[in-house]
Amino acid sequence: MRFMNTIKLNFFDTLPSTQTRAKELADAGQTNLCLIANKQTAGYGRNKGAKWESPMGNLYCSFIIEKENFKQPTDLTFLIGATWINLLTQQDVPIQCKWPNDLFIKNKKCGGILVEITNNQLVAGMGINITHSPENLDQPTTKLHDYTAIDKDKLIKDFFKEFENLLNQYKKNGFSILHKIWNAHAYLLNTEVKFKTPKNEIISGIFHGIDEIGAAIIDNQKFISGQFVK
Ligand code: BTN
Repeated sequence: MRFMNTIKLNFFDTLPSTQTRAKELADAGQTNLCLIANKQTAGYGRNKGAKWESPMGNLYCSFIIEKENFKQPTDLTFLIGATWINLLTQQDVPIQCKWPNDLFIKNKKCGGILVEITNNQLVAGMGINITHSPENLDQPTTKLHDYTAIDKDKLIKDFFKEFENLLNQYKKNGFSILHKIWNAHAYLLNTEVKFKTPKNEIISGIFHGIDEIGAAIIDNQKFISGQFVK
């Protein structure tokens, strides 16, 4: 299946990791392709390649898209987050984005996004908990089926429809559309947070959402990397 003129969807039963396979295909020159697996045997997450538990029932996919679509690679992460927000809020799921690349519902993680760069392409991996919420050592987890009965195949197709809609708006008007959606659904917005800076310092302050390039604003400081401490 192909949406408009962009991403083609390829379905698999089991792959070691959709991300690893998509990176290999990107290196071999493929693009505009999404690999979706029912299960992964070697799925990995962002934190130093931590294992991403991948039981049957959840969504595991990775897609290849040309880097030149984006002003900066991190814009893709915000585009994906904004897409999930638009899609799931339509179904009354109280979804939020945790800066920079997690999806949260009511203080619990329900998905993660991992964008990597290879061969002038971006490879975006998404792990979304639908039927299972595997325990995560870092943070409590939840799953979409606690909030909506959506079917996985429909979810991925609806995802790409909305993704392409927002991508077109982003290409016409820039980051402002993502900034607006993201900040309207930002986890921890206007609350006191603890944040580990790129220099590994822990600071406390009020999180004011993202600025016009996606940096996290904490009090009057801006960070393009770092992470919230629980
Ligand atoms: C995170 O650490 O929160 C990001 C997790 C990304 C997991 C997805 S599942 C599909 C794709 N394949 C992988 O091996 N990882 C990503």
